[in-house]
Amino acid sequence: MFPTHRPRRLRSHENLRRMVRENIVTTSDLIYPLFAVPGDAFSQEVKSMPGVYQLSVDKIVEEAKEVYGLGIPAVILFGIPTEKDTEATGAWHDHGIVQKATEAIKKAVPDLLVIVDTCLCEYTSHGHCGYLEVGDLSGRVLNDPTLELLKKTAVSQANAGADIIAPSGMMDGFVKAIRSGLDDGGFEDIPVLSYAAKYSSAYYGPFRDAADSAPQFGDRRTYQMDPANGTEALKEIELDIAEGADMLMVKPALAYMDIIWRVKAATHLPVAAYNVSGEYSMVKAAALNGWIDEEKVVMETMMGFKRSGADLILTYHAKDVARWLGHS
Ligand code: PBG
Ligand code: ZN
Repeated sequence: MFPTHRPRRLRSHENLRRMVRENIVTTSDLIYPLFAVPGDAFSQEVKSMPGVYQLSVDKIVEEAKEVYGLGIPAVILFGIPTEKDTEATGAWHDHGIVQKATEAIKKAVPDLLVIVDTCLCEYTSHGHCGYLEVGDLSGRVLNDPTLELLKKTAVSQANAGADIIAPSGMMDGFVKAIRSGLDDGGFEDIPVLSYAAKYSSAYYGPFRDAADSAPQFGDRRTYQMDPANGTEALKEIELDIAEGADMLMVKPALAYMDIIWRVKAATHLPVAAYNVSGEYSMVKAAALNGWIDEEKVVMETMMGFKRSGADLILTYHAKDVARWLGHS
């Protein structure tokens, strides 16, 4: 017998497919990550991330212009300092690398939004995301002393001209601490994009090459989330919302699309998905081998994030996606 219901009726012509399409990817969805390093005229490709570079401030300004020209509304900045110490001085110093890069980008391209990652792991000598008792080799990050450093970091980043603060260290109470620091400093209007549900993930491997931020001992499982847990992500976002987060992030993205979906369903705030370094590197490796069609695979993945409920996508593919969408 012939079927009564024929979903194929609506797939017969591209214009019909366009008419019934439920989701769309645009450049407005994209946030491009950038890595700032000290020096001049310096540009070095990250070995495990083809197409991604560590850039000195002058080069990052050029890159920012290109990104803006492609119609991408925002970048997120990470910094690699000259020196690392137990206090993460490079994170909160007024002349820190991210502060300098922020100032330079805002001066050259005022309308490109600068989101700054607010964490300590790139700046601590041990590579953990917070403050450790001096001499402690167990990697047990002290929560509340870390909050004080994060607050200082966020305020110095705001002073440098950052448009959005994005705390990523998964310390308890970090949104509240940063919010109060910003408010006291006169930055009531700067939004906080919280890395609310950030999992302890092997997909961060290539990023740790790019940001030189691998922990020297131990791992991040005492602060980042256990990949086995889904409901716990809802607890994390509930706390961050109560503490004043304006936007929420789920990270990584690909193996956690159920979390993106659940977070979106549980909140009225904008949700961002971080398509992390390892997810990028896998696609790049396969594409460079000629094993997949890079454009089609990446665009399908972006659509997957939108369909999962993400409003924003942080991705190293952002410039390519903008070009594939017809921008130049
Ligand atoms: C650190 C931080 C990480 C990423 C961004 N900020 C992860 C980590 O080292 O634990 C990962 C980004 C990526 O993999 O692309 N707080
Ligand atoms: Zn960190």
